Amino acid sequence: MAINYRWHIDRLNLRLNNDHLHSGLLELNNWISGSHSEEATRHDLLYKRTLPTLPNHLSSGSNILAAQACLRASSKETVGSMRSFVHFLAVFLPALVAIMSPMAAAQLSPNYYANICPNLESIVRGAVQQSVAQSPISAPATLRLFFHDCAVQGCDASVMIINPNGDDEWRSADDQTLKPEGFLTVINAKKAVDSVPQCANKVSCADILALATRDSVFLSGGPNYQVELGRLDGRVSTRASVNLPHGNFNLDQLNGFFSSLGLSQTDMIALSGGHTIGAASCNFFGYRTGGDPTMDSSFAASLRNTCAANPASGFAFLDGTSPVRFDNVFYQNLRIGRGLLGSDQTLYSDPRSRGTVDLYAGNQGAFFNDFVNAMTKLGRVGVKTAATGGEIRRDCRFQN
Ligand code: HEM
Repeated sequence: MAINYRWHIDRLNLRLNNDHLHSGLLELNNWISGSHSEEATRHDLLYKRTLPTLPNHLSSGSNILAAQACLRASSKETVGSMRSFVHFLAVFLPALVAIMSPMAAAQLSPNYYANICPNLESIVRGAVQQSVAQSPISAPATLRLFFHDCAVQGCDASVMIINPNGDDEWRSADDQTLKPEGFLTVINAKKAVDSVPQCANKVSCADILALATRDSVFLSGGPNYQVELGRLDGRVSTRASVNLPHGNFNLDQLNGFFSSLGLSQTDMIALSGGHTIGAASCNFFGYRTGGDPTMDSSFAASLRNTCAANPASGFAFLDGTSPVRFDNVFYQNLRIGRGLLGSDQTLYSDPRSRGTVDLYAGNQGAFFNDFVNAMTKLGRVGVKTAATGGEIRRDCRFQN
């Protein structure tokens, strides 16, 4: 079903107590709900559809099902058996990435493609505009994809690699929930760039992802910032390298993770504002609805209903007030106990970060400013160069 994204934004902007708005939101809910429930199939389809040469054992979907089972079991045993290895990765891998990053990042520049592909930015923006017009999931999915890429082995589009042996980032438990729409947005933008002879095979997937992310933010109502360019694409992608923060992290855990990427607590709080768009499945927040004192009780009750009505595929918006609009309402929600994820609500519950939440809740300009700074810093993490094994991938899904 094709849903007009602008139409939804316009509806949302009409604001509240209006039946049309409710029916619009309901429709958006259903659309996203369908996407969640068919996630594995759709992910598989993405790769089947866009990749005629996909090796047979990948198109069977068996790896996806295995990874999903792993996630569903998000059980203590799984977590327990992985703990020491994950701990090792948590401590050393991001540190390595952060250490290697400043040297490589020094070569980034907003004008990197000025002579190579002068119209790059408008080509990517046009393609992203089409993607967001096709699906309200495109923008949040692309923004999350960028974070998951940069936080694992640096901003090198390694999250997009399909390895024939099935051992790659996107099939890890943490990345299995990335939506196909984000991958498709980048693939379509790359196609548009490569259709211009002067630009063909000269722009990295990592840079296209960075630009498409900025455009997704801007087209959702967020800031229009300058993107540093000149990243090369990585050649390595493994499940074991994926170490990401979880929705039940406390402030110390969040700070620990982001500082290993070279990012400050302020950067982390501003980047968490990415949760002003998009949705989360019940399995990421359901445990909070049974009496978490930091969650507003009527909010908890309505979430309990949502999840009980749809145990397998229930979800809620990360910013339930303006879910498709990039704004500072996410922080206003935290002040009234309406943060969906524990890791978001803790930013307000913990007095050490509350002041920054208060600042952003009252001043959208300050949030946008800090978000842009933090995204720029995130975009410098682990940048690959030719000397560190980078390349410009012809197809974002495969090493050359
Ligand atoms: C601070 C630590 C973070 C944690 C613990 C976290 C956790 C999560 C979780 C659990 C979900 C729901 C996934 C699902 O249900 O499929 C989610 C969604 C999302 N996250 Fe994060 N995240 C964090 C940081 C970030 C950052 C830094 C960004 C980008 C700047 C980001 C952007 C998003 C977006 C846009 C979505 C919605 C995706 C969609 O609807 O497809 N997150 N996050």
